[in-house]
Amino acid sequence: MSSDDLHREFQFTDQDFELVRKAIYQRAGISLADSKKQMVYSRLARRLRMNQISTFRSYLDMLQSQPNSPEWEEFTNALTTNLTSFFRESHHFDILKQHLAQVGRDGHQINIWCNAASTGEEPYSLAITLMEHFQSASPNAAILASDLDTNVLSKAREGVYSMDKVEKMSPDRIRRYFLKGAGAQEGFARVRPELQKLITYRQINLLDNSWPIRGPFDAIFCRNVMIYFDKPTQRKMLEKFAPLLRKDGLLFVGHSEHLSHVADIYTPCGKTVYRLKG
Ligand SMILES: C[S@@+](CC[C@H](N)C(=O)[O-])C[C@H]1O[C@@H](n2cnc3c(N)ncnc32)[C@H](O)[C@@H]1O
Repeated sequence: MSSDDLHREFQFTDQDFELVRKAIYQRAGISLADSKKQMVYSRLARRLRMNQISTFRSYLDMLQSQPNSPEWEEFTNALTTNLTSFFRESHHFDILKQHLAQVGRDGHQINIWCNAASTGEEPYSLAITLMEHFQSASPNAAILASDLDTNVLSKAREGVYSMDKVEKMSPDRIRRYFLKGAGAQEGFARVRPELQKLITYRQINLLDNSWPIRGPFDAIFCRNVMIYFDKPTQRKMLEKFAPLLRKDGLLFVGHSEHLSHVADIYTPCGKTVYRLKG
């Protein structure tokens, strides 16, 4: 027994951890390393308290015996990692603007899919990029923003952020695209409705065999989620992106994600940016 086990409110055995790992892999494709045992404990301990269940074993038994229980959604939400920020990996937004300068000339509607969008900072950064590029508050463009986690999707739809997150952007961007809160909302800012109008939010599990969406997309942003998937899961998903991209479309991935294992489908064209081969 480790010192962690001694200090825990609930007993959490290696077998419990294995069951959690198996379940989240099957539901979300997320592969949890051995080192995540403590993280899993603290995130799920909250669920045990909420459900007033006193052991991990009974919590996991309850889930296994009720495949349609709403608790599955909470279980999944608890185990996703949602770290994000406005204009994260900012070079991607510059590359997108260059791309728009080329493909946007014919006036077609620009479609972008931002999956694993988390709490919305990424799709709102895309909406700002579109407005800046087209110098319009209503560009001919649409962003589909999706995530598996229903809690982050609600936060994204709401579009309210603490000022410490917003203040990382320039004062000009803040003035143009946010409404600062006053009174009880002091310290928070709300995205302007023009940004929200460009975005449709939808729950999409990247692991699913089919997605309820139609392309073609000028760009797909799939950033900082593949790191949680094993290579076969990544490949399956990346194969399904290909027919959804326009033939000149771009795929943006996270800073530690690379696509050398799907070099038969994608070719690099910038720092962690890819296009279809051939
Ligand atoms: C670390 S965040 C990345 C957020 C954003 N893309 C960025 O780069 O800043 C990873 C997101 O992937 C989502 N996610 C995890 N597994 C998923 C799956 N199977 N399908 C869709 N989204 C998933 C999580 O809910 C989380 O919001």
